[in-house]
Amino acid sequence: MTLSRPIGIFDSGVGGLTVFRALRRGLPRESLVYFGDTANLPYGTKSPDTVRGLVRAHLGFLKRRGVKVAVVACNTASAVALDGLERSMRLPVVGVIDPGVREAVARTRSGRIGVVGTRTMIASGAYQRRLAAAAPGVRVFARACPLFVPLIEEGWARTPVTRQVAMSYLAPLKAARVDTVILGCTHYPLIKSVLRDVLGTRVMLVDASGAVLRAVRAELGERNLLRVRGPRGRVTFCLTDTGGMFPQFARRFLGAPLGRLVKVDVRVRAASVTAGGRA
Ligand code: DGL
Repeated sequence: MTLSRPIGIFDSGVGGLTVFRALRRGLPRESLVYFGDTANLPYGTKSPDTVRGLVRAHLGFLKRRGVKVAVVACNTASAVALDGLERSMRLPVVGVIDPGVREAVARTRSGRIGVVGTRTMIASGAYQRRLAAAAPGVRVFARACPLFVPLIEEGWARTPVTRQVAMSYLAPLKAARVDTVILGCTHYPLIKSVLRDVLGTRVMLVDASGAVLRAVRAELGERNLLRVRGPRGRVTFCLTDTGGMFPQFARRFLGAPLGRLVKVDVRVRAASVTAGGRA
């Protein structure tokens, strides 16, 4: 039955759990397949071409598992890999950038918006372009924060080290007097309290997971694919590597054991790269 097909949620690792939790709470009758590409984490330090290859392969896996929509719950992947993907894969895809942009534009008063994210995501200029298109008068201050993901993945979120790093990364945004900061990496809501502490409570932090939930609801509603009746949906976690801390981290974050966890091996087509030398 089409309605009972699951929603796929894709991320490089644990970051997408912030989106997973919003969807689980907001759409409890939907079954969810969470795909974490733990073998290839981090995406935020890789080239756009590499990320595109990984995203295409893994969404292909989710499509073969019969998902009715794929949520790319990774800003880096959403920034560099979504253009044209929906059409070429013939799969409805919801990314995290447009929902975050809509939310930030609706919230800012001063029109001075900060964006933080991984190096590859910030370098892509995806938020900067979309914010300028959505609200031509806004000023955007973007800042790459590459140390946040490893600190979070290592469980160092609540340590003085993370606070110190945050103070250094966020100083230019404070100096620019932004009133809104987009958390342009799905890991960052996991250190929201640190970021709020450093930026001050007057700065609004935009965590797109609520907006992504609304976008998924709208996408499924338009296609008559929204499941509003019936039993609670099932949850499956697929990881490309099971050696790391994902299960412990997810259990702590979600407050419940993970349930079904599957190790998957997805073949990624290698792209040929010419680097000026002989192969
Ligand atoms: N969660 C990813 C994002 O939203 C970042 C983690 C990674 O570098 O893989 O960009």
